[in-house]
Amino acid sequence: MPITTCVFDAYGTLFDVAAAARQAASEPDFAAIRDDWPQVAEHWRLKQLQYSWLRAVTKSYADFWTVTQDGLDWALEKTGHDGDAALRARLLALYWELQAYAEVPQMLSTLKAAGLNTAILSNGSPEMLDGAVRSAGIEDVLDVSLSVQSVGIFKPDASVYDLVGEHFGCAKDEVLFVSSNGWDAAAASGYGFRTAWVNRSNEPMDRLPWKPADVLRDLIGIPALAGV
Ligand code: LAC
Repeated sequence: MPITTCVFDAYGTLFDVAAAARQAASEPDFAAIRDDWPQVAEHWRLKQLQYSWLRAVTKSYADFWTVTQDGLDWALEKTGHDGDAALRARLLALYWELQAYAEVPQMLSTLKAAGLNTAILSNGSPEMLDGAVRSAGIEDVLDVSLSVQSVGIFKPDASVYDLVGEHFGCAKDEVLFVSSNGWDAAAASGYGFRTAWVNRSNEPMDRLPWKPADVLRDLIGIPALAGV
């Protein structure tokens, strides 16, 4: 089947999740993380994801904003910044206005101009996704942001991927699903989507029963993969 619908993970794929810690570290008030902001960002991201999976397998859903704050609290304690309430507040505020990767607006415009459906499918709560989409200025080139909040479980539960067909009425093999999270792209392959893993930092392939169909270094090649 030709691709009719391009669906993107949000955090790490369209939006640069390291941007919050990088930005805070560049501000005089938050010089405390000038040297170790990459560790803060990495621990924050990994714990946020671990908590999402643990909450999924234990059926104890809380929205992604809660999980994001819990992950940050762990990361700040791990890196010795847990007493810094102003830093915590600044990092959380920046998470609502993450930068999109440079190629995102043009890539989405190309897909829309070719008549394809475009969407976000994310763990993020609807409010978080609205904030990020607005701050990146890409609301006109996205048809919809689909949030796991409506099913009350995180990726890679299949009910999350079901949201795409339910919204667009399309078959699985008409969907190109794009994620920078290797496990997300792999699981979406297992689900039946055509998939692309955006591997910006040359990470090893996740050892899972499924593999992404394509691996790219950035999002520039997505329209070509979608047949545009
Ligand atoms: C998301 C996370 C997994 O946006 O990056 O769903």
